[in-house]
Amino acid sequence: MLTNDQLAKWDREHFFHPSTHLAQFARGEAPQRIVTGGEGSHITDRDGNRLLDGFAGLYCVNVGYGRTEIAEAIAAQAHELAYYHAYAGHGTEASITLARMIIDRAPDHMSRVYFGLGGSDANETNIKMVWYYNNILGRPEKKKIISRWRGYHGSGLVTGSLTGLSLFHNKFDLPVDRILHTEAPYYYRRPDQAMSEADFTAHLVAELEALIAREGADTIAAFIGEPVLGTGGIVPPPAGYWEAIQKVLKKHDILLIADEVVTGFGRLGTMFGSTHYGIEPDVITIAKGLTSAYAPLSGSLVSERFWKVLEQGTDEFGVIGHGWTYSAHPIGAAAGVANLELIDKLGLVENAGRVGAYLNRVMAEAVADHPNVGEVRGEGMLCAVELVADRDARRFFDPADGIGAKVVAAMLRRGVIARAMPQGDIIGLAPPFCLTEAEAERIAGVTADAIAEVLG
Ligand SMILES: Cc1ncc(COP(=O)(O)O)c(C=O)c1O
Repeated sequence: MLTNDQLAKWDREHFFHPSTHLAQFARGEAPQRIVTGGEGSHITDRDGNRLLDGFAGLYCVNVGYGRTEIAEAIAAQAHELAYYHAYAGHGTEASITLARMIIDRAPDHMSRVYFGLGGSDANETNIKMVWYYNNILGRPEKKKIISRWRGYHGSGLVTGSLTGLSLFHNKFDLPVDRILHTEAPYYYRRPDQAMSEADFTAHLVAELEALIAREGADTIAAFIGEPVLGTGGIVPPPAGYWEAIQKVLKKHDILLIADEVVTGFGRLGTMFGSTHYGIEPDVITIAKGLTSAYAPLSGSLVSERFWKVLEQGTDEFGVIGHGWTYSAHPIGAAAGVANLELIDKLGLVENAGRVGAYLNRVMAEAVADHPNVGEVRGEGMLCAVELVADRDARRFFDPADGIGAKVVAAMLRRGVIARAMPQGDIIGLAPPFCLTEAEAERIAGVTADAIAEVLG
């Protein structure tokens, strides 16, 4: 058996970690954790820690850790048939069943699902399909995509461009062309404090209209957005936002892609964020919660109207030139089927809504009065605490002070994992749906203690 020191050394010497300070990690100055197990809402590591995972991995282990039903479904599939491809009409019982289960749960007008591996590749698929769609309809100029600042849609070339966070652009020569950004629907950071939510929504609509007018509607193919901004700060939209934005998009014949990688399959207490907010997308991105991350799997759902154009395309031009070796991987599909069955059986969507609301309430009770807490916000099993230097003046901390990261580190010392969101001093929480009320209380109490330790 390898010693902890040996593993840690190999880790520093050979493992190129994502989203990590590479130099500090290699020098042994950055956090390093070797995770060994998980049960319910907790993980364990090789140093003997047991931590309450307030972020469900990367908001993906929605059913919680240690679900033997999913592990057994994966093992059974691996024994029976670990792999066959999905090209040229091939499928497996698991992938076909899962497609049916997804469409049964999705908003009514959704028709087909293309399977990928993760949220980034699903969004790459979506953008290609949108371009294909407009070429088939004879509008080759209509190709630009509007995303929002602070949106998160992945870290590929196009998806990293769609992502509206500078960390994902800087020094990577992103965004690539054809990708535009409009203002984030972030009421707390509205340009004028005097604005009501309705005023702010009207302002966002005006900004979008102005962008479309500048670029020309006949050059814009689609708008992409998360129902609730996730990595950009966990920000539910202001009142009336989605209704107003959809009117603009319809008027200019711009497609809508709802990125439900975080919100899909229950995180808001409803099966999809689209139904939660009355969004009628042409395309929906799914990943994380589809398998609760027990195996990598994502999907691009297209509406019946969109699908008809894709069919027309292949009638005119032949086989669609798009596919991954691992599309609809049987092991991922088997995990997906078992995961969705488990969510239904245990009523986890309902639990996410109920305990999520409780988490938001106890969090507000625990921290909202602290002078450095600007806002406590959330929806379903998503909760954020935004820290500010001066609440009345709404003055933010200097990012160089790393206040959010310090609070998250103080929480970790108390046994709770939260996420310092990448832009702003925002403590993010997105626990598994099986969270109990007692665990929600513990998260809130630990957040309050950590804020007190760092900010007094
Ligand atoms: C809304 C959203 N879309 C896309 C992605 C990218 O997914 P992945 O990391 O699986 O590529 C993420 C990941 O966090 C996400 O939150």
